[in-house]
Amino acid sequence: MFERRRSRLREKIILITGANGEVGHGLIQQLYAMQETSDVVVIDLRGLDESLRSKVNRTIVGDILDTELINLLLNEYEIDMIIHLAALLSTHSEFNPETAHRVNVQGTINLLKLAIEQGKSRGYPVKFLFPSSIAVYGLPDLATKAQAGSINELQYLYPVTMYGCNKLYCEHLGRYYAQYYQQLSASTSIGVDFRCVRFPGLISAQTMPTGGTSDYAPEMLHAAVAGKPYACFVREDTRIPFMVMPDAVKSLLMLAEAPQENLNHYIYNVSSFSISAQEIADRIKAEFPDASITFEPHEARQSIVDTWPEDVDDRAARQEWGWSPDYDVDRSFNEYLIPIVRQMGKSG
Ligand code: SER
Repeated sequence: MFERRRSRLREKIILITGANGEVGHGLIQQLYAMQETSDVVVIDLRGLDESLRSKVNRTIVGDILDTELINLLLNEYEIDMIIHLAALLSTHSEFNPETAHRVNVQGTINLLKLAIEQGKSRGYPVKFLFPSSIAVYGLPDLATKAQAGSINELQYLYPVTMYGCNKLYCEHLGRYYAQYYQQLSASTSIGVDFRCVRFPGLISAQTMPTGGTSDYAPEMLHAAVAGKPYACFVREDTRIPFMVMPDAVKSLLMLAEAPQENLNHYIYNVSSFSISAQEIADRIKAEFPDASITFEPHEARQSIVDTWPEDVDDRAARQEWGWSPDYDVDRSFNEYLIPIVRQMGKSG
């Protein structure tokens, strides 16, 4: 899939940051299944789970804010593609807004600069895959949210969280580094090949997210399989788009592979299904009749989710790089989430 040319001087790699997070887990497993991990180098502050370590070429325990580490990567490797997953999610970021800004924004600038420098030495731009989020949106009230329905990439860009502000700004930074970086200098910059998907809430059968505000969906599911009661922190009628992890990984890899000439945008919504918290609970209860799920909305987290859209319009991704999810809502629950969490419940 990813073309490999061996450099005589430096090893050619795909760099994944934040690899020990949820998306990193799904991505590494998928790349490994496709026999594409021999040249993957990962960075994560916490290292990489034991189960994944043998699936990548090298694990670096480190901080994307550490510029010495970034320089080391620049000197040691020929980086073909950067998949920059490292970030603090929305709830977590509200507790430490300035830290979130450093990690989410300065961390991204460090990686974009690395991509620029790599591009210069290679003579063509490095692919830079960036996951953004529905948190970039900010619908002003519930009536507008209901009336707006499925919204496109340019509507309602008024985020109410530090995470959402960071992601929206980094989308712009990506566009800037791709197209305008050092626009006044005498020599033209190679730029970066920046490609971004805006994810809905993600649900994995295998891992739990940390510090997100869409986490009620995976938390509800994983509590049910563990036989623990769950008090959902949003109202029953709360509706946002969700996607299961295999589709999230698929969208990143599809966008990575799309021929550049087909891409007319830097930022693409990707969507799979839209569902309310009550409908998630109903689906879980149908499978786990003893599950105890109550609704005890947390005012502040509720008001964050209330600003996120009910659904997103992903026509640009469908038209330009053939996006379509493998899992609709029925398949997500019946063929992915429920069977795998049941299996894990038995073996765990
Ligand atoms: N899942 C993210 C969060 O809840 C939103 O993209 O922060």
